[in-house]
Amino acid sequence: MSERETWSTRAGFILAAVGSAVGLGNIWQFPFQAASNGGSAFVVVYLAAVMLIGFPAMLAEFVVGRSTERNPVDAFRELGGGSWSVVGALGVFTAFWILSFYSVVGGWVIRYILGSAQGAYFGDPTGYFGAIMSGPDALALHAVFMALVVGVVALGVEDGIEAGTKLMVPSIVVLLIGLGAWAFTLDGAAAGYAYYLSPDLATLKANFWSVLPKAVGQAFFTLSLGMGAMVTYASYLGDDDSLPVDGGLIVGMNTLVGLLAGLVVIPILATQVSVEAIRQTSGAGAVFISLAEAFAQLPAGRILGVVFFGVLLLAALSSAISLLEVVVSYITQNSGWDRKPAAAVFGLAVFLLGIPTAFSASLTYAGTGALTWYNDLAYNLLLPVSVLGVLVFVGWLRDDTASVELTKGTDAGPGSATAWIWAMRTVVSLAVVVTLFLGVQDLLVAAKVLAEPIIAL
Ligand code: PFF
Repeated sequence: MSERETWSTRAGFILAAVGSAVGLGNIWQFPFQAASNGGSAFVVVYLAAVMLIGFPAMLAEFVVGRSTERNPVDAFRELGGGSWSVVGALGVFTAFWILSFYSVVGGWVIRYILGSAQGAYFGDPTGYFGAIMSGPDALALHAVFMALVVGVVALGVEDGIEAGTKLMVPSIVVLLIGLGAWAFTLDGAAAGYAYYLSPDLATLKANFWSVLPKAVGQAFFTLSLGMGAMVTYASYLGDDDSLPVDGGLIVGMNTLVGLLAGLVVIPILATQVSVEAIRQTSGAGAVFISLAEAFAQLPAGRILGVVFFGVLLLAALSSAISLLEVVVSYITQNSGWDRKPAAAVFGLAVFLLGIPTAFSASLTYAGTGALTWYNDLAYNLLLPVSVLGVLVFVGWLRDDTASVELTKGTDAGPGSATAWIWAMRTVVSLAVVVTLFLGVQDLLVAAKVLAEPIIAL
């Protein structure tokens, strides 16, 4: 086996991990989840979920990756014995699964960069989205997106992922700040800020139990947890880095980008529609329809549309490469395959798995597209089960090894990891169990709706 690759610098690791974390989850989902779940009320729960639940879980994944320097499957096997490799395998499978439909959405983003430049959706934003979201066009752009991802991953950890994310992540931040500044100058933006930033505790109280699993699920998704990505990225990391400090920087930067995205998206929407209408805006089409409507109306809409969807593409790409890397690191370490063929073949396999979601509208199950099913299965089941496996393993079974690993590269002794271990054993696990329970309930309700026409036969 060839020598194992590593990051060339610590900043390289941090930027790659931020690149993985900052994705469609931050810019596409987060502002709209916030908008439709009580604005700032959702933001408060989400921030708590990220800090109290996501951050400790992320450290658990780092510890597994760095202490073994292996891909997720072998990492769990090495630390816990054969049957624990199932937890790693679930992470690899989840990466594979999520990437398959994420890439279809990535394809839509490419289409909207072109569509903004030409003003193609300006006349009829809703009709345009309906026309491009599924069918041969969506399939072709899904292929283009996956080809880009394969290209970066094939170049390797240092020359592909690290070099790519060093360019992409700063560009995302600078462009988002620019867009935020522009949004600030728009007439009517103030109503958006008011909704997004003023704490609405009454709404929070009324909706707490329905908001909680969404916020926790969003925290995992946005931090790329439960998909083997952080295990894999930490496996290329040296012992002299402080995991808590690096993790804190990654979580902090990811959160700032999410909040910033809200400061771009919500005021732009507020220039066109009332806060009440923003509250109703949700679902996969939100960015693509509502924002496109705004770009169609606003001065310099074409160029701003290109910039906005350009940022979205960079964010989606820097996330997607982390998931293909999970699969590629597993394959290259367990077969005689080199990185390039592994990236190409498994990139193709991901593409094939995503095909039903590129034909979502024609493959409807009880009115819901395949994309929704792929997404809900990941969000409500795969991610929480996978994260729970990591937490139980690190928090109960390998707590000693984990405490030593967490404090390597810091001045603190293993004893100082006690609070983290107990957090994983209690609040963090409990939140995941509740999320899982509510998530599975949702899935069952949806499956029942799905089965009704069959039962009626
Ligand atoms: N953290 C990513 C996001 O917020 O978009 C999660 C992710 C999803 C990473 C899909 C990679 C990916 F392909």
